[in-house]
Amino acid sequence: ASAPQISVGVLTADWLTLGSQLEILESAGVELLHFDVMDGMFCPMLTMGAPVVAGLKTRLLKDVHLMIEDPLSKLDAFVAAGADIITVHAESTRHIHRVLQALGKMTNANDSNRGIVRGIALNPGTPLEVLEPLAGEFELVLMLAVNPGWGGQKFIASTCDRVKRLREIVRDTALICVDGGVTRDNIGSIARLGADIIVTGSAVFDGKAPLENARVMTGALR
Ligand code: DX5
Ligand code: ZN
Repeated sequence: ASAPQISVGVLTADWLTLGSQLEILESAGVELLHFDVMDGMFCPMLTMGAPVVAGLKTRLLKDVHLMIEDPLSKLDAFVAAGADIITVHAESTRHIHRVLQALGKMTNANDSNRGIVRGIALNPGTPLEVLEPLAGEFELVLMLAVNPGWGGQKFIASTCDRVKRLREIVRDTALICVDGGVTRDNIGSIARLGADIIVTGSAVFDGKAPLENARVMTGALR
């Protein structure tokens, strides 16, 4: 397997200087930008919607993590906003299979030859068994290592065991993404569990030195 990569979460970014910071992150080899979309209903906080995802013009791939109710009705808007990866919570809809099927029929707004990478996200309290009937309907599993709601929370230790079991379940049929509570200190061990994508929000956008942080985080993965 190739080395994992980081997906940088914009939630705690400085939006006034975000453009130049993203260019710097790009030059440092970052390829994925993680958008935490929260609707104030599926989880407490309200963050951003599709217009914000669309408005952020970047060459980075848009990795959109939907923490919203009724995701089916919003898919079109996020696809039109240029999403490359769309991850939907298993807990956010009665019809997760339908949502993933619908996503599978959509094409990338920037390249009609490409589909959308379909992600399914699991809260820390959700058993891995929910994935079994969905085999073939996702390309990525996002293992949330905190409860959804805020950046800067503490990594829940039992996630490690879940990621190991997840790898046994999906083998090489899906990418594994670990999201929440990733720090300089634990990113190396999370990579060794078999994660392909590691989301890093406040550990990169800490209000101080995003570039240096990104370098340290990516350096830990090599
Ligand atoms: C949690 C979000 C995460 C989180 C990551 O609801 O899905 O993406 O904001 O932020 P850090 O890396 O600060 O935990
Ligand atoms: Zn996220």
